[in-house]
Amino acid sequence: MLKALLHRIVARPWVYNKMRTFCGVRQLLHRLRPLLAGTDGQTVLDVGAGTGLAASMLPPTAWYVWLDNDPAKLGGFNPHHRESLAMLGSATQIGLREKSVDVALCVNMCHHLSDRQVGQLIDELGRVVRDRVILSDIIPWPSSLVSLLLWRYDRGAHPRSWQTLRAALSRRFRIEHMEIYTTYHHYIFCVARPRD
Ligand SMILES: C[S@@+](CC[C@H](N)C(=O)[O-])C[C@H]1O[C@@H](n2cnc3c(N)ncnc32)[C@H](O)[C@@H]1O
Repeated sequence: MLKALLHRIVARPWVYNKMRTFCGVRQLLHRLRPLLAGTDGQTVLDVGAGTGLAASMLPPTAWYVWLDNDPAKLGGFNPHHRESLAMLGSATQIGLREKSVDVALCVNMCHHLSDRQVGQLIDELGRVVRDRVILSDIIPWPSSLVSLLLWRYDRGAHPRSWQTLRAALSRRFRIEHMEIYTTYHHYIFCVARPRD
């Protein structure tokens, strides 16, 4: 009951954005910014995009594609006055053509998906991405009370170790960079290129 109420409150884009800041978004942006700065003229797909935080980090000539299955998040999407496309749908069935995007972002989304859905997501990313995938997610940190408490109220119900996420991604992608960083949670952060 409390959990359901909290989810309804956090689903509001304004509250959601504040939560992102509280949960240490700065460390994520610090890693994303240099990678996204070089996407001039490229198509960048943001899978599980939330309120579209990544759009503000792209150069003016990049084309941003927002994809999420939550209409409330779409309501809070601010494209920062850039040319962009918003797709309301599932990350497990991406409505785009083969190799039609240069870069895909998948940030803090995998823990919302079952194992089967993660497999479908990675297959879909392998199908649509030409150049690289940037994937980050929360990973369990059982000795941290703060992290445990945040997990308890997270909408995502599928915590996975970094080894499991790395193995899932490696099936279709060659991992070029992987690190674990810490704020109130541990996070995996990977950059990977399609194998085909
Ligand atoms: C924790 S939020 C992360 C949002 C954004 N990537 C960020 O870092 O700010 C997870 C997002 O994944 C979306 N999501 C969950 N399951 C999804 C699915 N099957 N397809 C598309 N989006 C999904 C949720 O609606 C939510 O906006």
